[in-house]
This record gives sequence, C-alpha cells and structure tokens, in this order.
Amino acid sequence: MTIYFDHNATTPVDPAVVEAMLPYFTRLFGNPSSVHGFGREARQAVDHARQQLADLLSVHATQVIFTSGGTEANNLAIEGVSGNGALLVSAIEHPSVLLPAKKMAGAGKRLLIAAVDALGQIDFERLEQMLAAEDVDLVSVMLANNETGVVQDLPRIAVLAKRYGALLHSDVAQAIGRIEVDFAALGVDMMTLSGQKINGPKGIGALIVDRRVDIQPLLLGGGQEGGLRAGTENVAAIVGLGVAAELAGQRQPERQQTLTALRLYLESALRQLPAVTIFAEAAERLPNTTYLAVAGIDGETLAMSLAENGCALASGSACASGGRAPSHVLQAMGIAPELAVCALRISLGDSNREQDIDYFIATLRAQIDALMPSDWLAVSC
Ligand SMILES: Cc1ncc(COP(=O)(O)O)c(C=O)c1O
Repeated sequence: MTIYFDHNATTPVDPAVVEAMLPYFTRLFGNPSSVHGFGREARQAVDHARQQLADLLSVHATQVIFTSGGTEANNLAIEGVSGNGALLVSAIEHPSVLLPAKKMAGAGKRLLIAAVDALGQIDFERLEQMLAAEDVDLVSVMLANNETGVVQDLPRIAVLAKRYGALLHSDVAQAIGRIEVDFAALGVDMMTLSGQKINGPKGIGALIVDRRVDIQPLLLGGGQEGGLRAGTENVAAIVGLGVAAELAGQRQPERQQTLTALRLYLESALRQLPAVTIFAEAAERLPNTTYLAVAGIDGETLAMSLAENGCALASGSACASGGRAPSHVLQAMGIAPELAVCALRISLGDSNREQDIDYFIATLRAQIDALMPSDWLAVSC
C-alpha cells in the first residue's frame, strides 16, 4: 500500500462529488443552451453550481466564469485584461501565469517581475517601487504557493495595487479549503480556482471576476459564460465543482486545524533527521505543505525511492518534475541550486494520520542512510 502525500498535485474526488456528477453523464445529459426540458435541467444544475461557488467566496453568481481548470482561468486573467500599461507578476507564480505573461511580453507588453525574499514572501518595498515607477494595468500574485505553501499578505498587496490604479488577480487554487478565502476581504479583482485541488474533478475550474473589470475572452464561439468562455459547458464537472466548493467551505476550519497539527508533528520529526532543510520554515504557510531538502540527495531520486517504499510525494513542483532544473520558486528565494535540486514536497490531506507520518519518517531515514554519499558534503547532488 502506498500512502498519498501529494495533495497539492491533486486530491481524491469526494464520493459526494462523484454521486452528484453521475446523473449528468446519463439521464440528465442536456445541453444548457437548449430551450427544452433537457436543456433547462442542465442549465439549472450549472446555475446551482455557480451559486455554490459564489457562496463559498462571498461573491455574486454572475462573477463566476467556469473554465477548463486553473490553467485556463490564469491564462484568461493574464491575457484577457488588456490595457496599454505594464503587467506585474510575482517571480513564484505557477507556470500558467508566468508563461502567458512572458508570451505577452514577447508581443510587446511591458512585463515586471515582483521579487520575493528568502522566505518566499513578496518584497513590498520593491513592489511599491515598481508600481510607483510604471503605469501597471494588472498585478498577479498567488495567495498560496503550490511548492512552498507560503501564504502572501494579499490584502496588503491589494492596498498597493489600488493606490497605483492597478487591478489585482490572485491564483487561490492551493488555498481554497485549507485557509479562509473571501474575495472581498482579500481585496482582489479576479481570482483563479481549480476543482482538482478541492476534492472536485479534474479539468474544471473558474475565474471569479469583479463585474467592473473589462475582460476579453480567449475562446470565441457560442457565447457561453456571458461571452467570456465559449464552448458547451462541462455540466457534470461543473456540478462536481459546485459540490466540492460547498464541502470545501464546510470543512475548511476543522481541516486547517487538523492539518496544521499534523504538519507540526511532521516538521518536528524532520528536524531530527540529518541534513534536512525546511524551506520557508518561518513564513506563514498552508497548513498542509512542507517543502524540504536533504542536502546531498537529489530530490527526484529520493522521491522515486520513497515511492518504491510506499510514500507518494513530489520532488519540487509536480508540474516541473521530469526536468532537472531547480525550481523557479526556490531560485527566486535565493536558494543555492545544489540544494534546490534536492527539493521534496510533502503535501498532506484529509486521509493522512500521525501513523502515516511515522511511517514516512522511518522510510525517509532509511532512504537517507541508503542514498547519502559518505562524503556528502563534498558532493553536489
Ligand atoms: C497554484 C496553481 N495554479 C494553477 C494550477 C493549474 O490548475 P489546473 O491543473 O486545474 O489547470 C495548479 C496546478 O497544479 C496550481 O497548483
């Protein structure tokens, strides 16, 4: 049996979500745009899910645009807001923010990158300098980082963005269901979320948009989602996302407590192991995320040997693994590349218990003994 410690990559779909979705593959198969009863049933289901998301985030239902996931929502936010000013994104954003931003820079848009400190937190002084020096249309800073789990002070960023007349987008995909997320309280104008991170289905997400934001669609066609995301709605997935959002809201307070206690238990055990560094240890982080390195042991190699021994976790960012380049997040934090390539991410979830942590620690200790070169200090992993 393998224990799953990779909840930032994806979470299991909740049985209640599956149950709610199933009729929309069979009996309730209508197209929400159809005028007959089949269509009306599907439309009602989509509207209900839209309200469930709106309730979770304290927004109006008309602010919810369903997309094919977090990636599309981020692309839509970055590319959809046009203006003559600059685009400002943080150095630690998910590639689904960074790459469209770089694409726009290639097409002539001015792109500014906000730096983070050694703990992965936005450098406010430099952020304000950039906002003061340039006419910025849009700032994009994620609420919680998928690798480090570091939570940004978004209300403070919102104050700065507003002071300098810029819109603020935040990717909250990793934060929902783990910490409290409220659109107005954070002070954002747009927000990205993803179903698969909150025990919902994959391939569904949403961009929440303040109705005053002038946003242009990426996809043109049938005019669905108020003309902002054409294409027949993925009704079953939308229904699943709605239920997942409701459950995320209900479970968040208790989950935050339980996972925080579990993470502290994990980290106190990790500190007893040789050569372990916990990244961003002193920063405010998600309750479930610990990003560490065992100096001298390549993260990919360690993740593979842990997987062979019953522990499923990620080396660096799941989205970046496969390549040997050090994580851009750790690079932005100024972590030495030799240590950054040793990165291992453990992201806890509802199924994890203290005995899972005990098993993980024992397994990690054994793997460190097996893999650590005797002269590890001289070896760059
Ligand atoms: C912070 C963050 N944003 C966006 C995404 C992309 O979401 P999706 O896989 O739903 O497209 C991910 C997924 O790894 C993520 O962690």
